[in-house]
Amino acid sequence: MQNGRTTITQFIIEEQRHIAGASGDFTSLLNDVVTACKVISDMVNHGALVGVLGAAGTENIQGEDQKKMDIISNDVFLESNEWAGHLAAMASEEMEDIYHIPEGNPRGKYLLTFDPLDGSSNMDVNVSVGTIFSILRSQGDCTNPTKEDFLQVGSDQVCAGYALYGPSTMMVLTTGNGVNGFTLDQNIGEFILTHPDMIIPAETQEFAINASNGRHWEEPIKRYVDECLSGAEGPRGKDFNMRWIASMVAEVHRILMRGGIFMYPIDEKMKAKGLQGKLRLLYEANPMSFIIEQAGGLSTTGRERIMDIKPTDLHQRVPVVLGSKSEVERLTVYHNEFAKADAT
Ligand code: AHG
Ligand code: MN
Ligand code: MN
Repeated sequence: MQNGRTTITQFIIEEQRHIAGASGDFTSLLNDVVTACKVISDMVNHGALVGVLGAAGTENIQGEDQKKMDIISNDVFLESNEWAGHLAAMASEEMEDIYHIPEGNPRGKYLLTFDPLDGSSNMDVNVSVGTIFSILRSQGDCTNPTKEDFLQVGSDQVCAGYALYGPSTMMVLTTGNGVNGFTLDQNIGEFILTHPDMIIPAETQEFAINASNGRHWEEPIKRYVDECLSGAEGPRGKDFNMRWIASMVAEVHRILMRGGIFMYPIDEKMKAKGLQGKLRLLYEANPMSFIIEQAGGLSTTGRERIMDIKPTDLHQRVPVVLGSKSEVERLTVYHNEFAKADAT
């Protein structure tokens, strides 16, 4: 306790006490993840002062230009989590293959996947970025893990969370027992529980999508967005507001706080390139889906629940539609109606 306040460490320890047979490994692993996020937060906050802005001049496995901070935050995550002996291996957006725990270090029963810096195109313009992570139980051999060990359905996640580097730095977590939010007190270097039991408001009038892709969208998405845009005069009978931050962490956080829907759907342009979506299943869509569902929302591709998808690849992409339950349900209905009409 810090003056009657609950630190994230205390919160996790108390939560783990209710779990029969918990050894403390998970608590300790989460502590290292939290430390990594504090280090990244500090660098993001200092920006140009510590020379971390700008491009790295390299590309990741997805063919995306890497920012300096993409690489730095990836290294911070590896360094923070490779020594304690809780992990069998790690996987990240920024690494083609899984990361093996260095020879000589102890190994453990968990797997960690992460997007070390989400929304990194926002880094140089001083707009919110974040970190997303997911913890899985290692299914195979802890001493010789393979890529296949990571290909687990989202509903098997042990824990998911994100850090948001915004006006304040926050950490939002779920271990399958609700969602809790913590704010970093920079003076004492601790995350403090400030947002207990986060629930997505059911009533919403806000949607988020990159409308510049509008001409490529599939019919169900076009219909949903058109109806929102037609406002009080349209079939929805109310005006909607639109947001696009280009940082999924910031969008998901806004949805947790005041409801709404976030869409990064598959579109005709992606299909023509053989892509299944934009966002990555294992370290973006699954952890965010776990958090959204635990906060009372829904997360789907439009056609199926994201956390039911059996992954086939480490860097697999999926369409994502998540947020307030009634809005996601509406989009699912539109997808079903469209599929039926298409089949006849
Ligand atoms: P990342 O920076 O890790 O590559 O992720 C960016 C993602 C996501 O956070 C965001 O919602 C989306 O890509 C933005 O895409 P557009 O630039 O196409 O809008
Ligand atoms: Mn991302
Ligand atoms: Mn990223």
